[in-house]
Amino acid sequence: MEYALITGASKGIGKAIAYELASRGNNLILAARSEDLLAKISAEIARKYAVKVEHFAVDLIEPGAAKKLVDWCTENNYQLNILVNNAGFGLWGSFDKLPLERQLASMNLNMSAVVSLTHQFIPNLRKSKKAYILNVASVAAFLAIPSFSIYAATKSFLLSFSRSLNLELGRKGIVVSCVCPGSTESEFLETAGMNDLGKAADTFGMSAESVAEIAIRGMLKGKTEIIPGLINKVAAGALKLSPRAISERVAGKIYSKR
Ligand SMILES: NC(=O)c1ccc[n+]([C@@H]2O[C@H](COP(=O)([O-])OP(=O)(O)OC[C@H]3O[C@@H](n4cnc5c(N)ncnc54)[C@H](OP(=O)(O)O)[C@@H]3O)[C@@H](O)[C@H]2O)c1
Repeated sequence: MEYALITGASKGIGKAIAYELASRGNNLILAARSEDLLAKISAEIARKYAVKVEHFAVDLIEPGAAKKLVDWCTENNYQLNILVNNAGFGLWGSFDKLPLERQLASMNLNMSAVVSLTHQFIPNLRKSKKAYILNVASVAAFLAIPSFSIYAATKSFLLSFSRSLNLELGRKGIVVSCVCPGSTESEFLETAGMNDLGKAADTFGMSAESVAEIAIRGMLKGKTEIIPGLINKVAAGALKLSPRAISERVAGKIYSKR
């Protein structure tokens, strides 16, 4: 019996990915901090779809947390064929004014936890005939963003890491994909302190369910980079072509905190 493990599965995009994978017949392991939400979602999914759903409450920012999750899977003989590194958060504001501790926590969750989980789950994933790793980055991966500097940098890291890893592991039966969503309905804006930008997000935002469906479809097709939605695709294409000095100045204007 094989399982898909999803981090940050208690809310937003991760929760929608859990439903999407369950609807395609995958057994699930859900991870996040909110034990109560995980228990509720697990019961709901198991009731709705004929799949097994386990959950593990963990704060992935804590040192050694990734190993705890890996060890728990090993102890229970959970064989993974899909690892979705989705948990992540951003912080909006001037680098020098945002608390250093929160910025380091964001780097830990968005990068170190992903690297730790991926490294420690590869031996498990290798036992599957075909396995997938899906990393959730952002369109922010395509440019430097003033007032969102750490977040954009962590997502650039994730995209670059995913692309390299796919070339390393693809031939060995593990496909690595990276999904780069644009604005998506979730608790992300609130956590990032970006409620002031909410109106623009409401106009251009996608539902977490649409992002999840596109992400999983792309992953199963073996796509390296998945950009959900036409607006985001066009924006990412324009960013790749336009001079950085201009795109980053425009981004600075959009994201500047007044
Ligand atoms: N929404 C957007 O506009 C957008 C756009 C592009 C990319 N993304 C990316 O999409 C991913 C999911 O974000 P979202 O939009 O779905 O936001 P969200 O609704 O805030 O969900 C974040 C998820 O991560 C979990 N999480 C947060 N801190 C954690 C920790 N320390 N340890 C373990 N789990 C933790 C949360 O669960 P608990 O609170 O229960 O721990 C939750 O399940 C993130 O990587 C984000 O950067 C979002």
